[in-house]
Amino acid sequence: MIGVVESVSALRFLLDCGVDEVIGEEPTDWSALSPRPRTQSAVASPAPARPAPGAAAPQPAPRQNVPPPAPTRAADPGPLGAAEAGQSARVAASAAQTLDALKEALAAFDGCALKKTATNLVFGMGSRQARIMLIGEAPGENEDRQGLPFVGPAGQLLDRMLAAIGLDRHADDPAKAVYITNMLPWRPPGNRSPTDSEIAACMPFMVRHIELMAPDILIFAGGISAKAMLNRTEGITRLRGRWFDYGSAGLKKSVAAMPMLHPAYLLRNPDAKREAWKDLLALKVRLDGGA
Ligand code: URA
Repeated sequence: MIGVVESVSALRFLLDCGVDEVIGEEPTDWSALSPRPRTQSAVASPAPARPAPGAAAPQPAPRQNVPPPAPTRAADPGPLGAAEAGQSARVAASAAQTLDALKEALAAFDGCALKKTATNLVFGMGSRQARIMLIGEAPGENEDRQGLPFVGPAGQLLDRMLAAIGLDRHADDPAKAVYITNMLPWRPPGNRSPTDSEIAACMPFMVRHIELMAPDILIFAGGISAKAMLNRTEGITRLRGRWFDYGSAGLKKSVAAMPMLHPAYLLRNPDAKREAWKDLLALKVRLDGGA
């Protein structure tokens, strides 16, 4: 007979392994559900670098054209081969003429294996007329359950940060509203970091998401979105607080974009809130029409 202590430690072990979801009463052989055999080829973005200590002083940077990140290292290509997934994502994303159509296209997309283990697709939240679009990393456990971005502890901190400069994801007024989304619409199991190939597979949808929102300002929360969308290799502590011009083929004009520290990082490193506050003030100045 297993005692309570053993059961708790067995559950703890499973949690540590990333098994933190009950997704069915019967076991499922996920590999048997793959519609096609996997291939060895992979499309991947530059490997995420660890944040370097110290932050760079804000400075203007040249316009960034935003092709999907260059292949650098092999990773799980998902249920479709990487090239096939990329092509299918590009076709589906560019055909979408509205955000609702894009959400449907994403829901129908089979090129990212995370879809199979996620509970919900997390698309976006907030007024579609918002001047600001904030892009995080990927849904966590709470987001996966609710189908909404940034609703866990990091999201609550994010809301407080936005409120400090008069912004609110629930606002309808475009001047106050913030539209929030993530690089990946599906939760990586156990909240692991997304792989390069998962980011690459979903990149055409992210690019199109920005085109259809056409915001005045983009905020990249954390290194994953900043590096992937700006095609940069520096860590977030070097990128944060700097303004970039983000561009893509479907945007009429480039969008001012600023990377910021991720709220989950701020929860773990409260001292870094000083840096985050500087960036929020810079965002406020920009919103109010300043430099
Ligand atoms: N972290 C993210 O990057 N996005 C979320 O939605 C939640 C946590």
